[in-house]
Amino acid sequence: MAILFHETSKEFHLYNDKISYIIKILDNGHLGQLYFGSRIQDRKDFDHLLETCYRPMTSYQSEGYAFSLEHIKQEYPVYGTSDYKLPAMEILQPDGSRITNFTYLSHRIYSGKPSLQGLPATYTESDEEADTLEVTLKDELLGIKLVLLYTIFSQEGAIARSARFENPTDDTFDLTRAMSASLDLPDCSYDWIQFSGAWSRERQVKIRRLEQGIQAVSSTRGHSSHTHNPFIVLKRPTADEFQGEVLGFSLIYSGNFLAQAEVDTYNVTRIMLGINPFGFTWNLKPGEKFQTPEAVMVYSDQGLNGMSQTFHRLYRSRLARGQWRDKVRPVLLNNWEATYFDFDEDRLVEIARAAKEDGVELFVLDDGWFGERNDDHAGLGDWYANTERLPNGIKGLSEKIEALGLKFGLWVELEMVNMDSDLYRAHPEWILQTPGRKSCHGRHQYVLDFSRPEVVDCIYDMVAKILSESKVSYIKWDMNRSITECYSLALAPAQQGEVFHRYILGLYSLYERFIKNFPHILFESCASGGARFDAGMLYYAPQCWTSDDSDAAERIKIQYGTSFGYPIVSMGAHVSAVPNHQLFRNTPLATRGNVAYFGAFGYELDLQKLTDEERKMVREQIRFMKQYRSVLQFGTFYRLLSPFESNIAAWMAVSDDQKTAVIGYYKTLNDVNCEYRRLHLKGLNPNLSYLVDKTGKIHMGDELMSVGLITTDASAGQPCSGQPEEGFEICTDFWSKIYVLTAE
Ligand code: DGJ
Repeated sequence: MAILFHETSKEFHLYNDKISYIIKILDNGHLGQLYFGSRIQDRKDFDHLLETCYRPMTSYQSEGYAFSLEHIKQEYPVYGTSDYKLPAMEILQPDGSRITNFTYLSHRIYSGKPSLQGLPATYTESDEEADTLEVTLKDELLGIKLVLLYTIFSQEGAIARSARFENPTDDTFDLTRAMSASLDLPDCSYDWIQFSGAWSRERQVKIRRLEQGIQAVSSTRGHSSHTHNPFIVLKRPTADEFQGEVLGFSLIYSGNFLAQAEVDTYNVTRIMLGINPFGFTWNLKPGEKFQTPEAVMVYSDQGLNGMSQTFHRLYRSRLARGQWRDKVRPVLLNNWEATYFDFDEDRLVEIARAAKEDGVELFVLDDGWFGERNDDHAGLGDWYANTERLPNGIKGLSEKIEALGLKFGLWVELEMVNMDSDLYRAHPEWILQTPGRKSCHGRHQYVLDFSRPEVVDCIYDMVAKILSESKVSYIKWDMNRSITECYSLALAPAQQGEVFHRYILGLYSLYERFIKNFPHILFESCASGGARFDAGMLYYAPQCWTSDDSDAAERIKIQYGTSFGYPIVSMGAHVSAVPNHQLFRNTPLATRGNVAYFGAFGYELDLQKLTDEERKMVREQIRFMKQYRSVLQFGTFYRLLSPFESNIAAWMAVSDDQKTAVIGYYKTLNDVNCEYRRLHLKGLNPNLSYLVDKTGKIHMGDELMSVGLITTDASAGQPCSGQPEEGFEICTDFWSKIYVLTAE
């Protein structure tokens, strides 16, 4: 890995074994983009990659026809000085102008990677893991500096980027657009993939051909949202899961975002990723700096799985932090779908006792334990135990749970307040609200103004008290509404465009305090399920409740979509009761387990309500999970068959030593007299022989990958008797199977 600077051509070449990224200081001092793709050999200049011939209806910066930004691929483009595509940045100046001209001032190349103050970001544990290039540009007229940061990781086809604006002048400027990264690609021969949905159907895979014009996903909701995810993919039309060129773009941010591709009339594709400029203005005062969130760009020539595996490794080990980062996750039982608000201490202890009997390791108390929280109309903001339900408080309950031999976890929703709460009665000015206007509620709750440090402090103190005096090993941090009336009574009118971002900075600062002062706690983020399943959250909480939809069939799609950009271990995945509470659908208990294995596994039901037969199966599921969770959660994950494309879905995880593999095979609707089927496995050692647990047969790795694993199932319907023959395996709708392969 290296970052080279060629003095004569003024070109930077960032490369490792997998990728090359080449940028150039252009004649006008801006930064040009020359190449991002598989590793190519260095040369002293790549000048020929700049194509600048005359074109009609073009505006030129040079005297002749040689230099127009419209025709040059750039790194951090501006609008209004010969380029007409949407820009990476925009500054409203005291005289009303928005034209800027940032030109090269200096650069620095160093080992390692800097942290971004107050923001989540990838990191290194030693300087050998990455090199960083910082290019400083300056607008001579305004005096503002712009620092573009690029980090290349030694082992991964990934580049992390961000930008920092510095105002050393005596003037105040309005930053109205400050993207984290912009990348101009020389053509548009790509399929665009986005991960979109809604509450309970998050991150559905949507693919379409990139075309001239703008295609974008974004959030204006104050959180990354169920609707779209701050992660997009471009793949060559011929690329698939296993081969071909793929580019992945992920934003490490949890608030309003924009992820966009603009294809111009010459088929140049401009990718843009950052804070959503809609509603954003940062009032950059004298002496202040503004740091954008980080964006990560991944290149893979090994198809979509190759790209995902890069994100998995990087985010699992160099974005997630803390004591839990590399540890297999405890099997948990959460009481939400078991009781909703209908519980007291005795009922919780009985549920926990049954969970312990079956092998559960962590009992999680969800919503309803605090203040006057008997339903969702009251209590948020009052972070002290409801002693009518819990006479011994959280301290007493947590001690009882630990005495059973379980760890204890607690649900919180710290960013919200109900009007019916002591906190709101004491501080009505602490919610986001527009002067003189009514505020909208969501689930009867209002959003606390986390741009105000005193609000964040107050919440921290309340919860830190409980965490200090009780035995809490896990926190589920929920967030159940989108933001409206985003205005802070504590900020000046000129700063109101900062509130969405300041809210997220306040949220991050609160998380940071908790993880610093309670490092033993495993945090799981949540936002009405997966409305904040983003890379920003992973920096603080190494796992996230993937969706409120706990139906196994739906979960296959949700987890499949989520796996494109996020590690398997980060997906909270639970077995719940049937009929399912979201879809009223019945799926086999085996399938509910078989889906949830591929994640941070747990239960979302009262085990006491199951039959003896079902309890036996639960015990077996937990035993299985404990035996294979290191492979399932930390192995190399491959998507094999997409639930978005057919009735059968499949995926697998392979251990690092390639000696163990676990395959999940899922059929949505049963089919009769079906075709013969083989599943082509991936990631095995071709020269090892593997025992397939379900058949008892041994096959070489190359055979399992090239010929395939025979998965033909019996399917339904036998002539005449209506009864299955001896040894015949009955399949049903929502049937599934787990295969374990063990190398001999
Ligand atoms: C939404 C979460 O996603 C659920 O799991 C549960 O915690 C509820 N909130 C509680 O209000």
